[in-house]
Formats: sequence, C-alpha cells, structure tokens
Amino acid sequence: MSTSTFRTAVVRTPSGPDSIEIIDVPVVEPGPGEVRVRIAGAAVNPVDLGVVSGIFHSMGLVNQPDHTGLGWDFAGTVVAAGPDVDLAVGTRVAGLVDGFDRDFGTYAEQLIVRAADVAVVPDGLEPIAAATVPLNGLAAAQIIDLLGDAPTSGNRLLVTGAAGAVGGYVAALAQDHGWQVTGLARAEDEEFIRGLGAAFTTHAQPGWDAVADAGALQERGLALVRDGGIFVGVQPSAKLPAERGITVDVVVTRPDGARLRGLLVRTASGQLPARVRAVLPLDQVADAHRAMAKGGVRGRLVLTP
Ligand SMILES: NC(=O)c1ccc[n+]([C@@H]2O[C@H](COP(=O)([O-])OP(=O)(O)OC[C@H]3O[C@@H](n4cnc5c(N)ncnc54)[C@H](OP(=O)(O)O)[C@@H]3O)[C@@H](O)[C@H]2O)c1
Repeated sequence: MSTSTFRTAVVRTPSGPDSIEIIDVPVVEPGPGEVRVRIAGAAVNPVDLGVVSGIFHSMGLVNQPDHTGLGWDFAGTVVAAGPDVDLAVGTRVAGLVDGFDRDFGTYAEQLIVRAADVAVVPDGLEPIAAATVPLNGLAAAQIIDLLGDAPTSGNRLLVTGAAGAVGGYVAALAQDHGWQVTGLARAEDEEFIRGLGAAFTTHAQPGWDAVADAGALQERGLALVRDGGIFVGVQPSAKLPAERGITVDVVVTRPDGARLRGLLVRTASGQLPARVRAVLPLDQVADAHRAMAKGGVRGRLVLTP
C-alpha cells in the first residue's frame, strides 16, 4: 500500500458491475472523534448492487460530482486515531457507514469513520466473519425496535426472506422480545431456519400479527398482516401506505457502535450465525456483484483489499 494513496472501488456513471472502477485516492488523517481503519474485509450487500445499477442516481438520491463510493460495512484494524478517541492503534474493529450519497465506501483499503460508529471485534471472531455483521445485524436490531415487544393480543411474527442476512438475524433476535417467529424461505432453507429456533414455511397464508419483510416482498408482505397488525419494511425509498389499521413502518439502518459490539459478542459465542459464502479480492468486485445478482446466495461474499 502506498503511504499517500489507497485503492477503492467506485462508480462514476453506474450501469451494472462493468461500471465499477478501482481508483487511487489520497490518504487523509482522522479528525476529532474519528479513526482511520485498514480494512480486512467488506461485505457485498444488495444495496451495493442498487447503487451500481444506477437506480438511486435515477431517483435523485445520489448526487456525487465525480464518483460514488461503494460498500457499507467492514472489519479491520485501527491505524490512526484522531483527537478525543480512546481506541488504540492496532485495535480490531468492525463498523458501518450509512447513506449512499457519498464519495467513499468500505470497498477500499482504508476508511475514515467516526469512532462511535465502530465496535471492538471480540477475540475469537475472525475479521472476515465480523465484516458480515454490521449492516444486517443492526438492520435486524432496528427492525425489532420498530416491531417493539410482542403485544399480549397476538405475538405471531412472520419473517419473510428469513434465510437472508437481515431475515436470519430478525428470526433469531425477535424471539428475545416475546415474538413467536415463523420464517418464510425456500424449501432448501428449512434446516437453517429451524436451527434459529423459528418455525418454517414456504407459503404463508394471511393473518399474521406482524410481518418483518426482510425479503422485500412489499405489497405481498403487507397483504399477509392481519387488520390492525404491524408491518416493517426494508425499502425506505418505497415505503408502503398504511391500510386496514396496520402500523406500517420501514427501517433506515443507522450506525451504532455500542449495539454492534453486542451483536459481535453474540456472533463470537455462536448465538448468532456468521455466514461467509466466499472471500474475493477487491479486483474481483464485478464478479462478486454478478454472483449476488443471480440470487440464491446464502452467506455474504466478502471483499478483501
Ligand atoms: N433499509 C435498510 O436500512 C436496509 C438494511 C439492510 C438491508 N436492507 C434490504 O433488506 C433486504 C434484504 O437484505 P439481505 O441482505 O438480507 O438480502 P439477502 O441476503 O439476499 O436475503 C433476501 C432473502 O429473501 C429471499 N426471498 C426473496 N423472495 C422470497 C420469497 N418469495 N420466498 C422466500 N424467500 C424469498 C431470498 O431468497 P433467494 O436468494 O433464493 O431469492 C433471500 O434468502 C434487501 O432488499 C436490502 O436492500 C435494507
């Protein structure tokens, strides 16, 4: 790695995986409350495919003058700390950067990030596995905030896309809040879903007290909620209108270092799944996106710079 520049993957005119470029950008020093992290792994998430397709640019949600950075979550090592930071150089951390309208991302050799947005990776958890936790673990925790504790009037929760990254975490974590969870997934996902302590279905009928729509079924997911129930979606740019007295909400995942620490500890102890499908060098980022786009991927693809 050069001392004055580092490599990062970006899009300028997004039009699918072939439009991803790897460029060199200048190293900058962390400011107050910030750390510079040498990245060991960055997960490929569905939102990244959206940015690379240009959908968010066409919706007016990305307005970068030169290039747009890719990647939301990461694990790595602190290599420099700004003023007012109590993380030592050499500390292993994982974290999340949010929002897609930015010129930097985690598909990179380095990242400047707020120290409050990272968590120390516990001993015994490899950085590649830790890199799969931040976005989707925090998304699930924040979906459960929106669901709240299960009401006594009805605690049957359907998690769509329960074999996916977000859905798997929701299915595991919601049980702590009194929800009786059923995971909607493909037939081949049954063992994984039941291993989370949830019931399993491939075809859900309507009438659920709540639906956590981690499969992004949208209107089809809302139709499964009983009158007066709860629906939590995952697509903030396409929030559904309320109907039939249903409380309709949508998660907008935010960084939260303290909460991430708890998710990493539970991952290290085996209470939460750590699912890595494959590890690819940053140079193969376009291949990783093409593989994700085909669907059916279980576990994250993780890029190493
Ligand atoms: N708003 C936020 O802050 C936020 C944060 C994180 C994620 N998200 C969004 O949440 C969604 C899930 O993300 P993820 O990373 O968990 O994706 P993922 O790992 O690809 O999981 C999605 C799962 O849904 C399954 N699925 C889709 N349609 C289904 C159906 N009709 N029946 C059964 N299973 C079905 C998929 O199965 P197949 O692969 O077999 O199709 C896959 O297992 C994405 O849309 C993502 O962009 C939003």
